[in-house]
Amino acid sequence: MNPLLQDLEKILVSEDAIKKRIDELGIEITRDYLNAGVQELTIVAITNGAIIFTADLLRKIPLRTRLDCVRVSSYQDETKPIGEPQIIDNIRLNIHGRHVLMIDDILDTGRTCSKIVHALKTKNPATIKTCMLLDKKGRREVAFEADYVGFKIPNEFVVGYGLDFAENYRSLPCIGVVKAELQNPPEWT
Ligand code: IMP
Ligand code: MG
Repeated sequence: MNPLLQDLEKILVSEDAIKKRIDELGIEITRDYLNAGVQELTIVAITNGAIIFTADLLRKIPLRTRLDCVRVSSYQDETKPIGEPQIIDNIRLNIHGRHVLMIDDILDTGRTCSKIVHALKTKNPATIKTCMLLDKKGRREVAFEADYVGFKIPNEFVVGYGLDFAENYRSLPCIGVVKAELQNPPEWT
């Protein structure tokens, strides 16, 4: 057994459920783009959280894909949330006239995704869609809905499959909630 699992109070999404949902998302996304006559995509992943999800999802989308990443300032280790997330490393690929699919791990307040979508739009892509592994709908502070969502989850702080608590647990194959006694309460929830 993976010893990290002992730190979880509960598992919200199992490894099998993630695999099955990624298969479905791959089929759905591929079908939607092909129906729209699109054969090539530019994937923009938000590091670090989206890395594992992106790696698995990409291999279920049998279209031509280009891949790039955006890094956003993290506020989880700060004592206070910094207001607006800032892009600290932008994409290198030219997306002018391209079809962009932005991928992230979780849609929470919506600030990160709306900021990045806005920034990407200024580069004049042909289309831009978004795909989130998780959606914590109750937490939204800015209006933002993703085109594709893996799982809707309740308002709990989750880790695993790319998501971290103070940089731990990203490698867990499932998504779960860390035991309360192991959490210095995340300052930004
Ligand atoms: P938003 O800008 O509030 O939507 O936040 C999105 C970012 O906050 C995500 O990309 C994650 O890095 C982080 N985040 C939000 N909720 C969680 C959580 O439950 N666990 C781990 N990271 C989270
Ligand atoms: Mg993240």
